[in-house]
Amino acid sequence: MTKDRAQWGSRFGFILAASGSAVGLGNIWKFPYITGENGGGIFVMIYLACIFLVGLPIMIGEVLLGKMTKSSPVGAYGELSNGSRGWTSVGAMGVAAAFVILSYYSVVAGWAIHYLYLAISGTFEATNNSPQQISERFSTVSGDGALSLAWHAVFMAMTVFMVISGIQRGVERAARVLMPTLLLLMAAMMFYSMSLSGFSPAVDFVFGAHLDALSGASVLEALGHSFFTLSVGMGAMLTYGSYLKRTDDAIVASIAITVLDTAVALMACLILFPITFSHGMKAAAGPGLVFENMPIAFSQMPGGSLWAIIFFVLLVFAALSSSISMLEVAAAYFIDNRGWSRRKAVLSTSACILALGVPSALSESFFGWMDYVTSNWMLPLGGLGVAVFMAWRVGGKAREQAFAEGSKLGKIKAVYLLWLRLLRYFVPVCIFLVLLSGLGVFDAATP
Ligand code: PHE
Repeated sequence: MTKDRAQWGSRFGFILAASGSAVGLGNIWKFPYITGENGGGIFVMIYLACIFLVGLPIMIGEVLLGKMTKSSPVGAYGELSNGSRGWTSVGAMGVAAAFVILSYYSVVAGWAIHYLYLAISGTFEATNNSPQQISERFSTVSGDGALSLAWHAVFMAMTVFMVISGIQRGVERAARVLMPTLLLLMAAMMFYSMSLSGFSPAVDFVFGAHLDALSGASVLEALGHSFFTLSVGMGAMLTYGSYLKRTDDAIVASIAITVLDTAVALMACLILFPITFSHGMKAAAGPGLVFENMPIAFSQMPGGSLWAIIFFVLLVFAALSSSISMLEVAAAYFIDNRGWSRRKAVLSTSACILALGVPSALSESFFGWMDYVTSNWMLPLGGLGVAVFMAWRVGGKAREQAFAEGSKLGKIKAVYLLWLRLLRYFVPVCIFLVLLSGLGVFDAATP
């Protein structure tokens, strides 16, 4: 299997594709709205701590697991645990999570494409619609099953198109175009936001210390989101890591991806909140922050339709480079473990995901439930699996060697020990707390 396995075409191929996976709706749609709901400042700081102390060590572990085994999740756990049933099922849970997450992720991405279409057709012009009408549009769109379904199918077709041509020709080439364009568009929007009167209140909201808003639930939400936004706990980073060469530096790459993902999430806040505040709207607008507040703001700003088009192109691009990684995890299982051709694997898995997305497109409560099960259970459990497996199960020598291989930073003993200790003790305890909170253990304490 190792001999003719696909590899990235260049050193940047992996970084681009993996940051494409990490940067997505989680950064631009979800992070700003949960920051808004949790009162900004302190929540952001807790989030940063979770990203660098929990998410990053897991990402390094996951990428190394892929790099060491040159295999997708199920095979990777199997190989290093002598085929243990328990460990292979951790890998299998990741594959299952890929199916489930992509099925509803694609529905939200479908709304983004629909909003792009609305922006192009002038729906967000003040002369065509009032703020009230624009805001109501979101519930009309998300409540329209047939419409949601149609755009979900369009988005899945786009994802299939990218994944079917393989790692170098499909995934890597897509990331090469999508990521730089995304960053450029975001920079343009941020410059615009910096010129607004709402910019300094937004900076204060995102970075200022507002101690009053701190609650136990915020900590747990920040931790849960750090898995989702870094794409860890599901095997996406593992699968992308498996296409690395021995000489590639997995440690520096993981750090770069984490820093970029965090930068984009913060930039998204610095784009959305100045616009929100300048138009006198509330930060705690929930999931509608992107689909209600932003279009209202666009309708009231000069050149708004153009900014709306840029913004929704950006959202679709970000979603696409993430969905590619989820479909890759699902397909790689059938390619590596069942010997299917890439074409057959991609087409059949995406057909299943398309079908699985139907109830999410039709019912908001089903959608919410899928999001809940995957973000609060499957990803944290998958992350716990990576941490325990890499820190306790994999042989010490092999682990240390893998950490140092191709990486100057990884050869520094203190760096290795810091990573190992975080992964051994700190990470499992933190995840355990998220899982307990998922069971409602802390509910009585948070009124
Ligand atoms: N990280 C992606 C985002 O922030 C979502 C994702 C989760 C992608 C899990 C792959 C795996 O939107």
